Amino acid sequence: MSPSPAFQLTRTLAEDVTGAALRSDVLRGLTGTPKSLPPKWFYDARGSELFDEITTLPEYYPTRAEREILVARAAEIAAATGARTLVELGSGSSDKTRHLLDAFPRLMAYVPVDVSESALRGAATSLLAERPSLGIHALIADFTRPLALPATPGPRLVAFLGGTIGNLLPAERAEFLAAVRGMLSPGDFFLLGTDLVKDEATLVAAYDDAAGVTAAFDKNVLAVVNRELGADFDLGAFDHVALWDAEREWIEMRLRAASAQTVKIRALDLAVDFAAGEELRTEVSAKFRKEGVRDELGSAGLELTGWWTDQAGRFALSLSTAAQRPART
Ligand code: SAH
Ligand code: TRP
Repeated sequence: MSPSPAFQLTRTLAEDVTGAALRSDVLRGLTGTPKSLPPKWFYDARGSELFDEITTLPEYYPTRAEREILVARAAEIAAATGARTLVELGSGSSDKTRHLLDAFPRLMAYVPVDVSESALRGAATSLLAERPSLGIHALIADFTRPLALPATPGPRLVAFLGGTIGNLLPAERAEFLAAVRGMLSPGDFFLLGTDLVKDEATLVAAYDDAAGVTAAFDKNVLAVVNRELGADFDLGAFDHVALWDAEREWIEMRLRAASAQTVKIRALDLAVDFAAGEELRTEVSAKFRKEGVRDELGSAGLELTGWWTDQAGRFALSLSTAAQRPART
């Protein structure tokens, strides 16, 4: 049921399509070397809840840093873009987004896009309680696939917050940014949140908190595979590991098998052997520098027009628009 008539929820991912995608991702990931699982499967209802808990942890600074920038700069972003539609990719709880929504005097529509239906419903319910006149067109969709956006008034601002872009691998990032470029008409803008390179201790702590919430979040992907594909992963038999890769400038999350074990995945008719200490890569979280962001945007045909960081310089928001010149090759 929709929270109100101002709310529309469109599913562009059929549930059986989701199942087929999960099966092929898990098959590829668990039979490859090294083993891996792709990140979007973290976010079932429990995963979305655990992620929200991560954002409140003392060690997890990105949410607070990005919120600080939004609070300080929302009016400036609103003035620079004049947006009447805000599209947000990977919107989650839409909690920080309120600072944007409240700063745009001409805003008519908000289009949150997420794979997590529970997150979209929760966000819409609380947003509408405070802003009954906002038109919310929520999309259950995979932002790495072509998106069919609803016909809402322009100009549009497409936002991708939380540093989620860092969870894509470099080649996926290039493809994603080119697709974003393709979504922009003249006068539209792209607002991107990127976590910045900083000292290793701060980074590792943000992805391996003392209370173990990040570890629970990481292992939740195994619970998703157990439930959806009838697997028998023992969550207690894996340890969460967060490593800083200084060369690639990303945090890598892994699950390390505490002992030799065989996991059965019924829906795939597959048995997967883990050696003691063998690691499964679950997620990367790339960290950025201004030049790198400018270059990656430029390669996708996007031109940087704004760059803001929090006071401590931990996180950045950038604004870009379709470049006049063709994409660099
Ligand atoms: N923007 C929020 C949430 C970030 S967590 C914030 O800044 O706090 C990442 C969000 O992206 C989650 O809500 C997750 O469900 C969603 N997500 C991850 N991969 C996705 C994909 N491929 N397509 C759509 N949504 C995705
Ligand atoms: N976009 C978030 C980030 O990279 C996602 C995230 C935070 C995450 N903590 C995590 C993903 C732990 C996997 C494991 O900061």
